[in-house]
Amino acid sequence: MSTPPPGKLALPKLAELKARGEKIVMVTAYDAPGARFAEDAGIDIVLVGDTAAMVVLGHEGTTVPVTMDEMLFLTRTVARAARRPIVVGDMPFGSYQVSDEAAVENAVRFVKEARADAVKLEGAGPSLSRVRAIVAAGIPVMGHVGLTPQSATMLGGFKTQGKTAEAAAELVEGALALDQAGCFSVVLEAVPAPVAAAITERLTVPTIGIGAGPDCDGQVLVYHDLLGLTEGHLPRFVKRYANLSREIRDALESYAADVRSGAFPEEQHTYEMPREELEAFERSIRRASRSSASAQATKSSSTETNATLPAPRSEPPPLKTSSP
Ligand code: KIV
Repeated sequence: MSTPPPGKLALPKLAELKARGEKIVMVTAYDAPGARFAEDAGIDIVLVGDTAAMVVLGHEGTTVPVTMDEMLFLTRTVARAARRPIVVGDMPFGSYQVSDEAAVENAVRFVKEARADAVKLEGAGPSLSRVRAIVAAGIPVMGHVGLTPQSATMLGGFKTQGKTAEAAAELVEGALALDQAGCFSVVLEAVPAPVAAAITERLTVPTIGIGAGPDCDGQVLVYHDLLGLTEGHLPRFVKRYANLSREIRDALESYAADVRSGAFPEEQHTYEMPREELEAFERSIRRASRSSASAQATKSSSTETNATLPAPRSEPPPLKTSSP
């Protein structure tokens, strides 16, 4: 791919952070304000996650329905506002499952149309050839193993993965294969902490954990979860740093009450104009209403005069009026 824009965190810096034992911070974002907040907080990677399906687009309990066009729209919005963080566009279900060619075409759209710096896709196994193909096209890829929500049905729901020795070994193998296929980083979702630690130790590229314990090279949380915008059940691994949904609800209720009681807007929210301009304006509207009243009176009297004549064929019949 081309040279990153000035100020952008260079991808190889992530491996340097891993080597130095410095943690990488990633968060999801879906719009320009979220991207700006992340940038100002010094976040390293902004993921435009397909969790958008649930937290933004209102699909319940599944990431599957979000489309390429929706993901491109959201990613473009985030990329416009996030200058330093690496912006990763999450490839939605169906955009890379069919073939390597389709995967490359869709990854190219993320970079070209949405200005993403990299893409993410889920799974190892069949996804490995997709990763190789996209990397060969010059687009950096982030892998994702453990709980991969796009295949939640096959995994038996949103459940912790790698809880048996055999399943844990498979996870290690999958993550190593993604590293070898050329991923610049791998997300580990909902896996036991010791398994994530073993993977992190073995991979040359950084791991980013979500529900994967403290030993990953970095952490990611969903924006709406960490800010308390998500209501209802939250996974055990979420830490809430604010309760914004409460604040938003309170603010909207106060606004509605103020409008209904007349307490809003106050003088400070209202524009004034110079006294002489106001007086001139009042004179002009008085004049305008006097002349419109006299025009109306003239029209009514001529209507009365014409009432006995047949209406011209091209015009509608005169209106009935109760005015004298
Ligand atoms: O879509 C998403 O937000 C994700 C994160 C949970 C890693 O994949």
